Amino acid sequence: MPPYYLTTPIYYVNDAPHVGTAYTTVNADALARWHRLLGDDVYFMTGTDEHGAKIVEAAEAHGTSPQEWTDRTSARFVEAWKRLNISNDDFIRTTEPRHHAVVQQFLQQIYDNGFIELGTYTGLYCVACEDYYTPEQLIDGKCPVHGRPVIEMQEENYFFRLSAFEQQLIDYYAGHPEFVRPVSKRNEALGFIRTGLKDVSITRTSFRWGVPVPWDDGHVFYVWYDALINYLTVIGYGTDPERFASMWGAAHHLIGKDILKFHCVWWPAMCMAAGIDPPAEIFVHGYLLMGGQKLSKTVIAAGVVGEGVDARELNITDVSPLALADEFGVDPLRYHLLREVPLGGDGEFSFEGIVTRYNSDLANNLGNLLSRVTTVVHSKCAGIGPAPDPDSPLATRASEVLAAASEAWARWAPHEALEVTWRLIGEANAELEATEPWKMDPGPAVDAVLGSALEVLRIVAVLAAPAMPETAVEIWRRIGMEGDPNAARLPQAAVWGAYPGGATVIKGDPLFPRRKA
Ligand code: MSP
Repeated sequence: MPPYYLTTPIYYVNDAPHVGTAYTTVNADALARWHRLLGDDVYFMTGTDEHGAKIVEAAEAHGTSPQEWTDRTSARFVEAWKRLNISNDDFIRTTEPRHHAVVQQFLQQIYDNGFIELGTYTGLYCVACEDYYTPEQLIDGKCPVHGRPVIEMQEENYFFRLSAFEQQLIDYYAGHPEFVRPVSKRNEALGFIRTGLKDVSITRTSFRWGVPVPWDDGHVFYVWYDALINYLTVIGYGTDPERFASMWGAAHHLIGKDILKFHCVWWPAMCMAAGIDPPAEIFVHGYLLMGGQKLSKTVIAAGVVGEGVDARELNITDVSPLALADEFGVDPLRYHLLREVPLGGDGEFSFEGIVTRYNSDLANNLGNLLSRVTTVVHSKCAGIGPAPDPDSPLATRASEVLAAASEAWARWAPHEALEVTWRLIGEANAELEATEPWKMDPGPAVDAVLGSALEVLRIVAVLAAPAMPETAVEIWRRIGMEGDPNAARLPQAAVWGAYPGGATVIKGDPLFPRRKA
C-alpha cells in the first residue's frame, strides 16, 4: 500500500468554520477518500492554529482567556467537520504538548544548523494578518488585506535566514516541476522567490501565547513558524522516525491561495534548513467569492454565521456550512463544494447555484435514475434485481468513466471526476428512455436493461462515494448490495458485471426531492 499523507491548513480559532474553510476541508476529504478507494495507506489530517496575537485579541474581545477561547472554538471545528462527514485520521491543536515538543525540536535543529540569528526588527504590523508590511504595501496607510490600521512594532527578534535559501529554492523548483500546482501558482511562488528573499523575524516578545523558544526564555515563536510544523508533528517527527520516514515523502498539502508564500517559500526553506526534504506536493486552490450578494430568502433559510449581517453585503465568512447542511443535506453540500468551482481557480458561491445544481444533478439525474430503476424492478421483476447485460453499451462507458475519473482525481480535479461520473448517470437515464422497460413485457429484454441500469448505480455509488459517502451507502442498500461502497477497492469495484442478479431491490422516498428555486 503506497502511503498518501494529505493535509489541510490548520484553521485559526479567531473565527467559526465558514464555507471557505469547509471548501478546503471537503475537497481534501474527498481526495483522501478517493485514495482509500485506491487502496493507498492514507493519513489525512486537519486541525486548528491556536497561537498568536490574533487569538489573544479575539479572546479579550469575548471577555475570556486564550485557553478557554481556543478550547471553545477548536471544538466548533471538530463538530463542524464531524457533521460534514470529514474522515480525518488526526485533528491537531497547536496548543497540545505533542506539538510544542516538535516545534522546539525542529527549530532548535535549525538554530543549531546556524540558520537562526538574533536581530532587531522594526516594522508595520497587522494583527489580523499576523504579518509585517512595508509602507509601500499599505493602502491609505492601512493593511491591504483587512483595511485595518497597522501598528509600528520594534522587537528584538530571532530571524530565520531565509535569504540563504534563495538559490536552493530556485534549484528545487527547477528539479521538481510538480512541487507546486497548478502551474500559475507555481509561477507566482517562483516569481516571489526571484524578487529576492529577506530574512524573516520568527519570534515575539510582546505576548506569551505561543511556543517558548527553547534557547531563550523571553521569546515565543511567531505563530506561522509554529503552525507549519504541525505537518510534521502528526506523523511522528522526532518521536517515531520510522513512521516519519515513510509518510513525509508522501506529503501533499492542500491550501488556499492566501497562504501561498508561507507554504511555497518559507516552508520548503525551513525544511531545508532543518535537514529534511520539502513536502512532495503543494496544491493551491483559489477563493470562493460571493460577488456582493445580499441576503435573500434562501440565505435567511440557510442561516448565517455572526450577528448583524442582514444590513450589509455578505462575505463568504458569514455563511455557515452547518446551516447549509441543515438546509440542503450534508451530501448535496459536499457535492456542490466539489463540483461547482474547479480547484485551482476562483469561483462564485451562491445559494441559487446550490439549488440549480441540486435540481439538475441530484434530483433530476441521480435521484431520478435510482427511483425509476427501483420502481420498474418492482413492477416488472417482482423487486428482484436482474444481472447486468455483459454486452450493454454502458459497460464500455463505465470503464471509460473510471479511467477519466481516476485521471481527474490524480490532478486534483474533483469537479471533472464528478462531471464524467454524472455523464454515465445521464447515459443510463437516456438508455432507459430509449428502451422504455416500463412498457415492455417481463422477460430477458427487460432484465438486461434493468440489470445494466442497476450495475451503473452500483458503480456510480463507488465513484461518487468520495463526494457523497452517505448517499453511496443508501444507493447500495436500495439496489440490494451488501457491504459498504466506501470500503470498496478500485479498479476491481468498477469492473462491469459485479452486480449480483437476484438481489432484493428496495423502493424508497426520493433521495433528493426537487427544490423550488
Ligand atoms: N492558520 C492559517 C493556516 C496555517 S497552515 C500551517 C490560516 N488559517 S485560516 O483559518 O485563515 O484559513 C485559511 C484557509 O481557509 C485558506 O487557505 C483556505 O484554505 C480557506 N479559506 C478561507 N477563505 C476562503 C475562501 N473564501 N475560499 C476558499 N477557501 C478559503 O490561514
